[in-house]
Amino acid sequence: MSDAAPDFDTAFVAQLDALLRWRRDVRHFRSDPVPEADMQALMASVSLAPSVGHAQPWRLVRVRSADRRARIADHVDAQALAAADGYTDPAQRDRYRALKLHALREAPEIVAIFSDDRPVAGHGLGIATMPEMLRYSTVMAVHGLWLAARARGIGMGWVSIVDPPALTAMLDVPADWTLIALLCIGYPAAPSDTPELEQRGWQAREPLADRLFDR
Ligand SMILES: Cc1cc2nc3c(=O)[nH]c(=O)nc-3n(C[C@H](O)[C@H](O)[C@H](O)COP(=O)(O)O)c2cc1C
Repeated sequence: MSDAAPDFDTAFVAQLDALLRWRRDVRHFRSDPVPEADMQALMASVSLAPSVGHAQPWRLVRVRSADRRARIADHVDAQALAAADGYTDPAQRDRYRALKLHALREAPEIVAIFSDDRPVAGHGLGIATMPEMLRYSTVMAVHGLWLAARARGIGMGWVSIVDPPALTAMLDVPADWTLIALLCIGYPAAPSDTPELEQRGWQAREPLADRLFDR
């Protein structure tokens, strides 16, 4: 506990806005490693996330085995090939194939984040009607990690072209842990304020007015 609440002044707010604008999903990484102290700080940031009933359902797995990493990368490549076949329009299929959708082979760090569907902590508070709140809590933790990384100049890429039970098996974790995020972490090759999918003409940011409703 600390009594000294920080005063978040307007300069900090401007910096926070810049952090939100410059957070990116990164698929192109430099090869230099992330210092272990920074990795530890990023992991610690996860513990600060909000969670339903304070259940803290996130479970972090650092993938340190080269063999496991290679198997995960092969798995994601196979899933991406299958996903490409789902595009019936040949031009769209080619555009999908041209995208870089993960950096699992070259990113300095790989972390998988699971959500425990039956955590002891939290004693069931808040999940009687919406058990999915546990997974939402873990998503919040991933976002906090994303921002904590970017504030340190470290990039993160979220890979979801995965068959979750396959990853659960590859990483040898309990069956009631649900995969939330497979993350590539390292220094971005080229920081940007524009999403890569927007840069490549796949999808631009849509106007907020189209997504904001008054009732
Ligand atoms: C839940 C989630 C899953 C994602 N999965 C992938 C993925 O499998 N491969 C990929 O390249 N990007 C993935 N992304 C990144 C999005 O493509 C990216 O967030 C979006 O294009 C906006 O770009 P930005 O994050 O740089 O603002 C994912 C993002 C989220 C939030």
